[in-house]
Amino acid sequence: MAKKDLDWGNLGFTYIRTDKRYVSNFRDGKWDDGVITDDATIVMSEDAGVLHYAQECFEGLKAYTTADGRIVTFRPDQNAKRMVSTAKRLEMPPFPEERFIEAVEQTVRANADWVPPHGSGATLYVRPVMFATGDVIGVKPADEYQFRIFVTPVGPYFKGGAKPIVIKVSDFDRAAPHGTGNIKAGLNYAMSLHAIVTAHEEGFAENLYLDAATRTYVEETGGANLLFVDKDGKLIVPKSHSDSILPSITRRSIVDVARDYLHLTVEERYVRMDEVENFVEMGLCGTAAVISPVGRINDHGKEISFASGMEKMGPVTQKLYDALTGMQMGDIEAPEGWIHEITL
Ligand code: PLP
Ligand code: COI
Repeated sequence: MAKKDLDWGNLGFTYIRTDKRYVSNFRDGKWDDGVITDDATIVMSEDAGVLHYAQECFEGLKAYTTADGRIVTFRPDQNAKRMVSTAKRLEMPPFPEERFIEAVEQTVRANADWVPPHGSGATLYVRPVMFATGDVIGVKPADEYQFRIFVTPVGPYFKGGAKPIVIKVSDFDRAAPHGTGNIKAGLNYAMSLHAIVTAHEEGFAENLYLDAATRTYVEETGGANLLFVDKDGKLIVPKSHSDSILPSITRRSIVDVARDYLHLTVEERYVRMDEVENFVEMGLCGTAAVISPVGRINDHGKEISFASGMEKMGPVTQKLYDALTGMQMGDIEAPEGWIHEITL
């Protein structure tokens, strides 16, 4: 095995085509056996359901190299489960959970040379994706689908790595109340593209979305859940009245780590936008974002600056970051079942 010759320390969050991918097709009411292939392209009908009615969903997880050279993934069973609930909501045939995990194993194993070395700052992003390939012209679910997993080595999601970012409160909505905000459907991200381009043009790294019904409560950003720390060192994570926040696996893991490993007080509750200025630290969490500190929010011209400042993440955020990433990379013992080793 020879690692690829990449500048691991300077990767961004961009697609690099690797050697192998996993593909399984759903036809005649069943998923086929699936194969590992070199072919990174997809040929399908002009009438495929994904092209017209956006019948598509995806997942995101990462593979890491541990200090002793093993390759591990973090809670792939949770991605498998979430993709099943997403598929059901989109009237797609769920890809069986145990097959999802096997497919992740096969894809990562086939691309072992692309898994960044321990301590390099990079990780291997694993992207399962499922889409309707069957013909549809009336609005209805297709009867043929493809499930695919590819991988790409990535660095930090936000430029500047762990430096605090500045975000804005968006006037656009990411998801409708009781719509699809709580599933990982590509259509949610299509909704957010104009908003993110606008935010970037204005100099902001991300959008903070409020609840679409009342614009009173904070929900999440375009690609990550929110974390706040109050002046007593308590961790606060927002809930949604209208079930329109994606149930982040990273956020749920952080809540457990905060309670059980760091012995912090954790509140999962509705968070009003007008109380955010009382918090002292803020972070965005997700597979891609890991924990990215927020230094400032622009709320329609009003600046909300967190006490942790613009130089580095706040002390509680840092503890959470160290504990989470320590577990993900095998430096700290993780709760039972969180670390899934890929045997070579
Ligand atoms: N929220 C949104 C909108 C996302 O796209 C993601 C990314 O997956 C997350 C939250 C974080 O979820 P997870 O921690 O499962 O990656
Ligand atoms: C992830 O964190 O895996 C996501 O899918 C978020 C996306 C913005 C890259």
